[in-house]
Amino acid sequence: MIVYINGDFLPKEEAKLSPFDRGFLFADGVYEVIRTYNGKLFRYEDHMDRLRRSMDSIKLEYDLSSIKNIIHQLIEYNNLDKNESLIYIQITRGISVPRSHKFPESVLPTIFISTTQIEENDTDRKKGISIITLEDLRWKRCDIKSVSLLPTVLSNEEANKKGAREAILFRDGLITEGTHTNFFAAKDETIFTAPEGNHILSGITRKIVLELCNQLDIPISEEFIKKDKLKTFEEFFVTSTTKEITPVIKIDSLTVSGNQPGQLTMILQNEFGKLTITN
Ligand code: PDD
Repeated sequence: MIVYINGDFLPKEEAKLSPFDRGFLFADGVYEVIRTYNGKLFRYEDHMDRLRRSMDSIKLEYDLSSIKNIIHQLIEYNNLDKNESLIYIQITRGISVPRSHKFPESVLPTIFISTTQIEENDTDRKKGISIITLEDLRWKRCDIKSVSLLPTVLSNEEANKKGAREAILFRDGLITEGTHTNFFAAKDETIFTAPEGNHILSGITRKIVLELCNQLDIPISEEFIKKDKLKTFEEFFVTSTTKEITPVIKIDSLTVSGNQPGQLTMILQNEFGKLTITN
């Protein structure tokens, strides 16, 4: 696998980072995950806008104008032209020697980009998944796609141990989002999801779902769902770049929509599929 690091395209074994990199020492960095459909980047500008917002939020400056070109070269070097790829971009504030909280002066950020082949597996999207609820242990800037991911890593691991595919998180009794997905519910033909703000990441797939709802005249309510009201909803699904629109058929011990993906969920999934086919 060839990766890109600080100006070089290298076999992954040769890619090296300083142990003084602030990404390693402080999780002082941001990242982005993009994918291709039909070999073409999907919603690239939306992802770059979000990356810029994340960088601005942590006062990190980096010129993103060459990223697209680098991604295309990586796809070529890794012979992924005929496959679908997942692209990971990470930018940190560079190195601080000696270790110090203070921002370093005249230090270049570290940039790392890798591409991997996507092994398509439709099972979860067709059959739906079981998820669990856990307390949201994260900080109050979940809108920043920060590499500081320990709370969601731990929550995701707890879900895995319990045989679930995702954990959805609640703060003060309100559902925010999943560990790496946005969360949606439906009832009375209306779609519900948490509002944008400091408590969720503004997912690109979330944005597309809301666009599709508008096109299909499906009413949207961007309000927090109360954890203790989950049982009053008819359908649930989670969204992300990798999971697309994945139906939820069980939350903790609550079986939903008769253990089947819900109708509205499948309509949206179908419409989403059309966008990816024509990408
Ligand atoms: N995760 N919420 C969180 C906390 C996320 O980490 C993600 C994405 C999303 C969905 O965003 P999008 O639809 O733009 O992928 C919501 C990425 C894929 C990851 O960390 O791998």
